[in-house]
Amino acid sequence: MKINRNYQNLEESYLFSTIAGKVAAFQKEHPEADVIRMGIGDVTLPLCEKAADAFARAAKEQGQEKTFHGYGPEQGYEFLREAIREYYAGFGVRVKAGDIFVSDGAKSDLGNILDLFDADNTVLIPDPVYPVYLDTNVMAGRRIWFLDANASNGFLPMPPEGQEADLIYLCSPNNPTGAVYDRAQLKEWVDFANRQGAVILFDAAYESFIDGGAFPRSIYEIEGAETCAIEFCSLSKLASFTGTRCGYTVVPEALCREGMSLRKMWLRRQTTKFNGVSYPVQRAAQAALLPEGMAQCRAHLEVYRESARVITETLSAIGIWHIGGIHSPYVWMQCPHGMTSWDFFADLLEKTGVVGTPGSGFGRNGEGYFRLTAFGRPDATREAMERIRRAYGNAE
Ligand code: MLT
Repeated sequence: MKINRNYQNLEESYLFSTIAGKVAAFQKEHPEADVIRMGIGDVTLPLCEKAADAFARAAKEQGQEKTFHGYGPEQGYEFLREAIREYYAGFGVRVKAGDIFVSDGAKSDLGNILDLFDADNTVLIPDPVYPVYLDTNVMAGRRIWFLDANASNGFLPMPPEGQEADLIYLCSPNNPTGAVYDRAQLKEWVDFANRQGAVILFDAAYESFIDGGAFPRSIYEIEGAETCAIEFCSLSKLASFTGTRCGYTVVPEALCREGMSLRKMWLRRQTTKFNGVSYPVQRAAQAALLPEGMAQCRAHLEVYRESARVITETLSAIGIWHIGGIHSPYVWMQCPHGMTSWDFFADLLEKTGVVGTPGSGFGRNGEGYFRLTAFGRPDATREAMERIRRAYGNAE
């Protein structure tokens, strides 16, 4: 018997599990501490009323013989795929309902999609990066080429001409930095991928934070993307589904490699390894995406946007360099006094009780940086930023 030894090349635990462990230890030692969590990007506002009502109604249907649903279609109910198609149409993007696959969230699909690709591929991964892209490829033993994201390129790496590439991960608005690619930059990536025959795995989980039409919300806003890109999205941040779980992946019919349709392969993979998302969750997701539900979701997004403004204004006021927080719930800041990311994590927790995410947890280029999220309760975010202002007001 041989185990997958690639697991030996992973960090001991997943970034957010490590942080949760450190915070639990701190709380045990300081039971009196009033801890404010601005670490993992977990929402704090509830499901919108329309989604919660639809969820409850559908659960009731499941309790009655006449309305009971057994196994659903693995690709997702048509009512939800139609609602997603309409959601895209709302910002001018045409996707076919048949290319949409409903899932329990973008994170799972971002890992599972790798079933479609040989381990003998070169993967381009930005650094810093959402750890799932890296860890899932380390597990499979793929060759990884890091794309440096840093202050000099605005944390938005561009195609490395001459570099072999099979799979390319892009996330915009970016997790962890909050940086956002514009149309011209994404066009360069799409052209590069089409030239190389590479596939872009585009994580659009934060698209709903884009305010106005200046930045693309979907890779399919870019001409040529349907022959080189798979898009992953989620209702987690848009509609407070982090605990309810629903996302979707778009695999365009036009996307083929080595004579095989990736859409057909993904359908084959999903029908074999996945039995779909529960009926009540899909009804809740549909209700969130319909106009009345969406209006409520947008009101929630405004609350987070305002919190992001509070974070960035405080950091500006005390002279701490930062980016993000405009089309994104994440603010990426430099650690004060030249501290390392983990030193600042400990210092911040000790001095203020505020939890954030060390930039180095997202990669080598994240060292010396720190991520704060705007997903906390607004009063808690204000309180946290006031504590940060008092503790690091002389950040120079
Ligand atoms: C994050 O904090 O980076 C996200 O919440 C992680 C996720 O969505 O899985």
